[in-house]
Amino acid sequence: MSDGTVFEVAGLSFAYPGHAPSLVEVSFTVAPGERVALLGANGSGKSTLLYLLDGLCFAGSGTVTAFGQALGEAVLDHPPFGPRFRREVGFLFQNSDVQLFSPTVEEELAFGPLQLGWTTEEVRARIEDTLALLELTHLRDRRPQSLSGGEKKRVALASLLILNPSVLLLDEPTSGLDPRSQGLLARVRPRARAERGAPARGGPAAAGGAERRAPARSAQPGGCAPALSRRCGAHARAPRRSPRPVPSPPGRGLG
Ligand SMILES: Nc1ncnc2c1ncn2[C@@H]1O[C@H](COP(=O)(O)OP(=O)(O)OP(=O)(O)O)[C@@H](O)[C@H]1O
Ligand SMILES: [Mg+2]
Repeated sequence: MSDGTVFEVAGLSFAYPGHAPSLVEVSFTVAPGERVALLGANGSGKSTLLYLLDGLCFAGSGTVTAFGQALGEAVLDHPPFGPRFRREVGFLFQNSDVQLFSPTVEEELAFGPLQLGWTTEEVRARIEDTLALLELTHLRDRRPQSLSGGEKKRVALASLLILNPSVLLLDEPTSGLDPRSQGLLARVRPRARAERGAPARGGPAAAGGAERRAPARSAQPGGCAPALSRRCGAHARAPRRSPRPVPSPPGRGLG
């Protein structure tokens, strides 16, 4: 994957089928190490833009390029780019309920690593690290759907961080979090560039780099957002973490 830019968005427009455009002529780039805040009114297209960056929806016109590759269904569905993109980019949904589906918090965290074929020892060690990082150890046996909103958000975040992605797309990451939990979030960093290709274990490293703000341009700046949907109509692709049986469910077996 190219090291030049992480994302390059050029003339991007997008409309949900049968609806007015949500994004019109959006252009920007994100360099490795940069942290970018998307600011905009409810309904201005922040979540939609993140879906497009994550390859969950596709541009109506214009392009979204990630790691030097224009995103489209074909490249994301096939190796080598598709699986590598999915490993490199972690996406936190605005609504944690669409992201959590496992019977326990521990299994939620184990899902991704087991799909990638990590050893039981690697999965166990990384679960411990990640639970501790987000102060979730006491919740490891809880059913994710039974948690509070802030707890769910931390579990959803943990399920991303355990894979040690180099890019984090976080949709409203602090909403519903108390000040202490927001402090935990501030410690979270994507894997640094220098670590690319390294085994995905250990705590998330500081990516460093500049911070800048890129307001989302919207066709409907005062629009009212509906409940978050993972579907983008005709442009939709399957959610990344759909419920599937894991090769060897950890449960207490990992403990
Ligand atoms: N599945 C959908 N089908 C049709 N229109 C949608 C869909 N999802 C979002 N929209 C519309 O697209 C526009 C952008 O919505 P989006 O959720 O991206 O906004 P947002 O900036 O994330 O809002 P919020 O701050 O409330 O999270 C809104 O007008 C919204 O009504
Ligand atoms: Mg949103």
